[in-house]
Amino acid sequence: MMNKKIKKALNNQVNAELYASYLYLSMCAWFEAKSLTGFASWMRVQVQEEMFHAIKIFDYINDRNGEVVLEALAKPDSGWDSPMAVIESALKHEQKVTAMINDLVNCALEERDHAANQFLQWYVAEQVEEEASFGAVYDRLKLVGDDSAGLFAIDLEMAKRVFVPPAP
Ligand SMILES: [Fe+2]
Ligand SMILES: [Fe+2]
Repeated sequence: MMNKKIKKALNNQVNAELYASYLYLSMCAWFEAKSLTGFASWMRVQVQEEMFHAIKIFDYINDRNGEVVLEALAKPDSGWDSPMAVIESALKHEQKVTAMINDLVNCALEERDHAANQFLQWYVAEQVEEEASFGAVYDRLKLVGDDSAGLFAIDLEMAKRVFVPPAP
C-alpha cells in the first residue's frame, strides 16, 4: 500500500508522461508538415517512449493497490519557428520532467516509501538518457546552423531511430 501523498504524486506523473507524449506528437506533426520525415519519425518513436513511461507508472500504481485516476491533458504547444526551436523546447521539457522526477524521489524519501524510491530510480536513470538524446540533436542542429544540406543530413540520420521498449 502507498500513502495518499505518494499515490497522488505518481498519478500526477502519469499525467505528465502522457502530456510529454502529446507534446512530442504535436512536434511530430510540425515536422511532418515541413516534410522533415526523419525528425517526424524520430519524434514518433519518442511519443511511444513517453507512453511507455506513463504505462509503467500506471502498472506500478495498480501493483501497489493504488487507484489510477486519469486527468485531462493540457493542449500542447505548436507553431514553432524552426527545427531548432522545436528541439530546444523539447530539451527544456525533458529538463522539467527531470526536476519532477527528482521531486518525486524526494517525496518517496520523506514518506519513507523505499519501494517507491526504488521504482523511481529507473526514471532517474532514464532522464539522464532523455536529456542526452535530445541534447545530442540540439547540438547537431547548432553545428549546421542555417545550412539546409546539413539539416537534411541530420534528417536522414534521425530516420534510423526505431522504438525499442526500454529494459524493465
Ligand atoms: Fe518521460
Ligand atoms: Fe528514453
